[in-house]
Amino acid sequence: MAQTWTPNSWRQKPIQQVPDYPELAALEAVEARLAKYPPLVFAGEARRLKSALANVAEGRGFLLQGGDCAESFAEHGADTIRDFFRAFLQMAVVLTFGAQQPVVKVGRIAGQFAKPRSSGVEKQGDVTLPSYRGDIINGIEFTEEARVPNPERQVMAYRQSAATLNLLRAFAMGGYANLENVHQWMLGFVKDSPQAERYRKLADRISETMDFMKAIGITSENHPSLRETDFFTSHEALLLGYEQALTRVDSTSGDWYATSGHMIWIGDRTRQPDHAHVEYCRGIKNPLGLKCGPSLSADGLLELIDLLNPANEAGRLTLICRFGHDKVAEHLPRLIRAVEREGKKVVWSCDPMHGNTITLNNYKTRPFERILSEVESFFQIHRAEGTHPGGIHIEMTGNDVTECTGGARALSGDDLADRYHTHCDPRLNADQALELAFLLAERMKGGRDEKKMVVNG
Ligand code: PEP
Ligand code: CO
Repeated sequence: MAQTWTPNSWRQKPIQQVPDYPELAALEAVEARLAKYPPLVFAGEARRLKSALANVAEGRGFLLQGGDCAESFAEHGADTIRDFFRAFLQMAVVLTFGAQQPVVKVGRIAGQFAKPRSSGVEKQGDVTLPSYRGDIINGIEFTEEARVPNPERQVMAYRQSAATLNLLRAFAMGGYANLENVHQWMLGFVKDSPQAERYRKLADRISETMDFMKAIGITSENHPSLRETDFFTSHEALLLGYEQALTRVDSTSGDWYATSGHMIWIGDRTRQPDHAHVEYCRGIKNPLGLKCGPSLSADGLLELIDLLNPANEAGRLTLICRFGHDKVAEHLPRLIRAVEREGKKVVWSCDPMHGNTITLNNYKTRPFERILSEVESFFQIHRAEGTHPGGIHIEMTGNDVTECTGGARALSGDDLADRYHTHCDPRLNADQALELAFLLAERMKGGRDEKKMVVNG
């Protein structure tokens, strides 16, 4: 496909998951307005993320990507953003210690608004309405009026993304992300957890390391890296008219960048090689994610890799595998072997959420054990294949919601009704997310000890 790419060449291709806007003139007017608004992120930042991901692809780092399934206008507030960031940073510290490698931090935030749906309509009783497609498109209320796609929502999503990014930048650079703070929050979590005994060992070792650093004079006053952090944003590039409006030429390199977020990904339902979403993504220079589900063949993956990363640049492409705890052993090895055989440079990441959704008491939920089990299999398979398990991709919130079952507090199906707030898929709450980090860190350490024994023995 050596055809010329332009920010709108996707419009010539077949496309899935398009909202049915009633007035095209109104849609075009909004897109024209957005095209004049300032970029949300800068090309240089996207390049910095790409080079951090290149290290992950080479086995020298770990990617933590997570956040809401769908951001919502209703839940936009400083506390929600702060609590998410706080939970996320704690996970990152625990994983950094577990992996003994830098953790690249990428939120599903400040742009994660558009949702692909398995059905175009939703039925409740005798009433059938268009499906909710994310706040950037229509409203979640089950009324005819709310479900009509409204282009003005794109402007609201843009403004919310800008405000969210502004706060995240302040948190990341203004002292809130200070390692000492994050460490204290983490100790608070461990103290209150029903699994305190289990997590304390690892927490104590982090504390000892911090004390040692302090003793030799490494503090946040003299080391900016201890009080600041790099935090990046990402979302699914589903609504291509919005993406196109925010696609800009970088004045330094002359290349096109998506400026709606640092990293964007292609969903499992829109990854057809000759369709619009792949066409759009191949032409921008940001780091890209590609969701890989059970229906993706090894040849299909190689074709997509050639389209999306023809120069085989490390850091450009992250394969976000989402097979399900019971299918990962069947599908992951064949994809790893094909990628290895062809010498393709990718980051392997595990999304243990989207293949593990079940319905319980009329709620979509995900059992914590299955989430953990898929990540564990992902690690074991990579170890067996001699490849690097490069990261995880999760749906999480900093709030105390009851959307996924299990975890140390053993949430049951009966608890789901208490605080089920998600606008789309069930998210890990702050405690469950941090537990997952502790359990993975334990295993990462186990894996390193095993490797050492092999080398020495
Ligand atoms: C998502 O990440 O919210 C999503 C819809 O995932 P997938 O494309 O893997 O189904
Ligand atoms: Co989701």
